[in-house]
Amino acid sequence: MILVTGGAGYIGSHTCLELLQQRYSVVVLDNFCNSKPTSLHRVENLVGGKMTVVRGDVRNRALLRKLFTAYQIDAVVHFAGLKAVGESVQQPLIYYDNNVVGSVTLTEVMAEYGVKTLVFSSSATVYGDPASVPIREDFPVGTTNPYGSSKLMVERIYRDLAVADPTWRIALLRYFNPVGAHQSGMIGEDPNGIPNNLMPFIAQVASGRREHLNIWGNDYSTPDGTGVRDYIHVTDLALGHLAALQALQDKDGVLTVNLGTGQGHSVLEMVSAFEAASGKKIPYRIAPRRPGDIGACYADPALAAQLLGWRAELGIDAMCRDAWRWQSMNPEGYFETERVQELSFA
Ligand code: NAD
Ligand code: WQD
Repeated sequence: MILVTGGAGYIGSHTCLELLQQRYSVVVLDNFCNSKPTSLHRVENLVGGKMTVVRGDVRNRALLRKLFTAYQIDAVVHFAGLKAVGESVQQPLIYYDNNVVGSVTLTEVMAEYGVKTLVFSSSATVYGDPASVPIREDFPVGTTNPYGSSKLMVERIYRDLAVADPTWRIALLRYFNPVGAHQSGMIGEDPNGIPNNLMPFIAQVASGRREHLNIWGNDYSTPDGTGVRDYIHVTDLALGHLAALQALQDKDGVLTVNLGTGQGHSVLEMVSAFEAASGKKIPYRIAPRRPGDIGACYADPALAAQLLGWRAELGIDAMCRDAWRWQSMNPEGYFETERVQELSFA
């Protein structure tokens, strides 16, 4: 059985779907601070399977112990955490507590129960402003905000753990820019309030919920001056987690891999691709650069292919098509009425 922390969230829900589809048993632990149980309900409906869903916090040691006692857990996929870069600057302690203390508590309890296989959500943000692209895993790391620092700290803690006890099997997955939605349009990204990220913002402009997109700068040294990123379809990303679980089956130690496509796309390219996918015009204005942004960031995905036997398959047309399907079918995101049965361990 796989424990998925943060399984109700954007990437977690897509990963749960793929896990169920490949006949894994899944128990989700989520406190729903940034998600709704509806996503899990929809995953179950789509797959025609069941998960165990536990409402609770990954920092709650007593709850974790109950979970590991009640279920025969073989491995953990650890998504639970906070991810808003700007908010992390305003409220750093909340980020360090959730992301770092949560990750430490989880592995302490895993060790108590002899469960030592772990897949962790890291981020390309650990590379800071890279000296060149594409980015390889051995590039220098350095962060510019508490969110990024929390991810880098956890990476370091987990590497130290694997040195102290080499029987740990840990995959540190550095995601680039996850976008899109499941092709059914039933699950997707449901940000609170005004989206910070490009793709959900564009989708809301296309649907008429927002008037125009602000493009943060067109004076970067990129082909058209707008920021270039490695957008990766969330289904490809989810499959990367299954590949990592497989790879850890016969390998002790730590795997650190980029999950990206290796292709960089500019903001203007994404706007055009979304217009083509949706048949809608995306009005935009060029605005000043966003503080903390970098020009270009995309992965060298070779190591993931080598170590995980995984590569991204879907391009920006599929990403935009699926993001648009999700947006049109769920203009207000998830609603609260659909519920899964939750277990209470309190
Ligand atoms: P998300 O917010 O949609 O999902 C995170 C889930 O964790 C939510 O369901 C939330 O309710 C839950 N959660 C948060 N704190 C918790 C806690 N203390 N205890 C239990 N549950 C908790 O975010 P996502 O986009 O799915 O991201 C998943 C992970 O991937 C995060 O760790 C994030 O930092 C990382 N990541 C995300 C991106 C991205 O752009 N989306 C990029 C790189 C890395
Ligand atoms: C993409 C491009 C913007 C919004 C962030 C986090 C990173 C990771 C993924 C978790 C950039 C431009 C955006 C808008 C715009 N998360 N843009 N107008 O900044 O690459 O990464 O999410 O680990 O840590 O920093 O993603 O989607 O915000 O921006 O012009 O309204 O779109 O300037 O070039 P980013 P993004």
